[in-house]
Amino acid sequence: MKFGYFDDRNREYVITRPDTPLPWINYLGCQEYFGILSNNAGGYSFYRDARLRRLTRYRYNNAPLDCSGRYIYLRDGDSGKFWSPSWQPTRHDAEDYSCRHGMGYSIIGSTFAGIEAHTRYFVPLDENLEIWQLTVTNRRAARARIPVFAGIEFCLWDAQDDATNFQRNYNIGEVEVVDGVIYHKTEYRERRNHFAFFACSEPTSGFDTARDAFLGPYRGWDSPAAVAAGQLTNSIAHGWAPIGAHQVNLDLAAGETRQIIFLLGYQENANDRKFSPPGSQTINKESVRPVIAKYLSAKEADAAFDRLREHWDKLLGIFQVNTPDAHTNRMVNIWNAYQCMATFNMSRSASSFESGIGRGLGFRDSNQDLLGFVHMVPVRARQRILDLASTQLATGGAYHQYQPLTKRGNNDIGSGFNDDPHWLILGVAAYLKETGDWSILDEPVPYDNQPGSEAPLYDHLQRSFRYTLERLGPHRLPLIGRADWNDCLNLNCFSNTPGMSFQTTTNQDGKVAESVFIAGLFVHASRELAAIASHLGRSSDASRCLAEAEKMEQTVKEHGWDGEWFLRAYDHFGHKIGSKECDEGRIFIESNGFCVLAGIGLDDGRAATALAAVREHLATKHGLVVHQPAYTRYYLHLGEISSYPPGYKENAGIFCHVNPWVMIAETRLGHGDQAYDYYLRINPSAREEISEVHRCEPYVYAQMIAGKDAPAFGEAKNSWLTGTAAWNYCAIAQWILGVRPTYDGLEIAPVVPVSWPGFTATRVFRGVVYKIAVERKGAGNRIALTIDGVPVKGNVVPPPKDGRKEVSITAVLN
Ligand code: GLC
Ligand code: GLC
Repeated sequence: MKFGYFDDRNREYVITRPDTPLPWINYLGCQEYFGILSNNAGGYSFYRDARLRRLTRYRYNNAPLDCSGRYIYLRDGDSGKFWSPSWQPTRHDAEDYSCRHGMGYSIIGSTFAGIEAHTRYFVPLDENLEIWQLTVTNRRAARARIPVFAGIEFCLWDAQDDATNFQRNYNIGEVEVVDGVIYHKTEYRERRNHFAFFACSEPTSGFDTARDAFLGPYRGWDSPAAVAAGQLTNSIAHGWAPIGAHQVNLDLAAGETRQIIFLLGYQENANDRKFSPPGSQTINKESVRPVIAKYLSAKEADAAFDRLREHWDKLLGIFQVNTPDAHTNRMVNIWNAYQCMATFNMSRSASSFESGIGRGLGFRDSNQDLLGFVHMVPVRARQRILDLASTQLATGGAYHQYQPLTKRGNNDIGSGFNDDPHWLILGVAAYLKETGDWSILDEPVPYDNQPGSEAPLYDHLQRSFRYTLERLGPHRLPLIGRADWNDCLNLNCFSNTPGMSFQTTTNQDGKVAESVFIAGLFVHASRELAAIASHLGRSSDASRCLAEAEKMEQTVKEHGWDGEWFLRAYDHFGHKIGSKECDEGRIFIESNGFCVLAGIGLDDGRAATALAAVREHLATKHGLVVHQPAYTRYYLHLGEISSYPPGYKENAGIFCHVNPWVMIAETRLGHGDQAYDYYLRINPSAREEISEVHRCEPYVYAQMIAGKDAPAFGEAKNSWLTGTAAWNYCAIAQWILGVRPTYDGLEIAPVVPVSWPGFTATRVFRGVVYKIAVERKGAGNRIALTIDGVPVKGNVVPPPKDGRKEVSITAVLN
């Protein structure tokens, strides 16, 4: 069952009934000002940091779900009936409801009682504000008097404090209302130099800034008292809950259309220019007034919207494909790339499942996010790499997370996740391959943000490499530390106290438990680092990396192989995890996917054997599960993984992030059909038809789909902010379609289904447009290339030396 459809031409998903199984959201903003927006206008906004600079309030895990948002109410001046064109919060039976989620904007609306209303929400490029463009049309035969109300609830900036510290917060709320603009200035009198504003393009007939006055006692956003009464009360908030609400009385002739623009935004003033007149407590509005005036003009708003569309045309234009499969086309061309932008911007901070409070940017997560983002805005990727590397510790380890606003490592969670350092190597390698900008390696970058500790980025990569070598366990495999990629395999935790964090507790000295997954990651990262070193002419570094990678590969074969698949780990007692000897958790996806991806066992049949075992034990119709059998009870020595009921999350759920590792591994064996089959199983568009089972948005990946051990097998959770976005993008773009940036040029190496007659692609790479046509002549993956009609050897195409900006490539598969 579907709740909408894809409009690929407009790059939109169109939701046609409002009662989606869960709020289906979109992101507004792609630079510093952001919002999440559901198909029913729920959501909230923030500036840069969803915890520390939250503009509007949102109540997670409320009933009904998705409560509080950017709400508009229309009221029939004659009957007194009122409703919301976005369905929520009033939930009227409107006609023609639709929500078009597009690239950085959403258009939500419906028709009720002959009044059609749609709101286009978006954030203009380079601005810290959002525009709501409301269009109201009177479809009645007669004149209609329609008072319009728009309301938001301000958050007192720090979202954590806002939700907990009521004894203070009920006293501090402050606003100003000047020239029809509502300014939220809580804490501006003291240490903050920023405020929010809520403005309206039309002359208003009233406002409210006190929630109690607007809603009335014991009433919710579904039936505000002032809307029911048809008149806002011009309340000024003093403490309690400041809100912003405007009223515009429309008088529409039959057939008449009117537009109203609302602006919600964030503004900072220099510390010595906060007040005007100086010495007063009144906000100095000199800098914000022109911004407000500009975007209250419909012409400027439309122009800003056009710029946003052009921006996305350009970003998405970097890689476009035309394959025989619609699901592949729309995910690659539109939604998967779009999701990569969201994960780059948000890391794991703000979504319907991430409260914006809990986590900052993850070191491991953000490095992986780069893999799917780097081609879109390389300069931002560059900065992100330098920021991440600045939180690396002198040991080569890394803070597991950092706060985007301060860019400091997060002490609460600390370090000791022994896979972390290697993701930096992969992030940097991806950047170098995409851009050829080798200068980044010379950038001086501090350790732990300590001034004076700066060393070239290249030195950081070397420390990442050495970090593992200095932390080998009894089998010479890497010690796991707190956890590797699987945050829930906590082999040194041993926690039996409720509420104790699995992530930060270590009750063992950590000298025994080892990770075969990190071993695979180390092999892969060290070979990347070797390629980087030899490009720089540092041949002794290169040979050392290669030698250690080789040694680790042998160790994996000796101590990390279980006979039919790769082991997952050794626990604190030196016992195997992910082995046929185990009762539960006999085979795991991560080590098998990553070891083969790293090339281990391609030469001796182990890789093929391991992937056959993965297929046999882990593949389900909804995707590949993390392990089998699921853990049916809590094991003290395994940690959080066994805390989840079977089939959920890391306990044998379909963790979508790791599925593409197996897809890539399959392509390394030349298995295009198998790789593609796995790709489609979790492709959200391919799952659209079963939206009542999948339940999350059909246009973006979710972190997890419940595994076959779960009662809700096939149900997705935690959509949007997941490494799944970047890795699936890499799997399909670089390994299945095989259009792959390398240090020396663009490699063309498709491993596609045998039934495909071919496909075409356009890839902008280092400023050159590559037009690629792949034709299948035989059933294999052997490839013969011609460039601009001339046959060439090999399959890497460097940017033309003569400065041409376009090359045509034909690739014949045999
Ligand atoms: C979450 C975390 C990620 C981790 C994964 C598996 O997605 O953000 O860092 O690797 O879970 O535990
Ligand atoms: C929980 C989740 C895991 C996530 C981690 C982040 O353990 O199960 O997916 O990576 O939290 O802290």
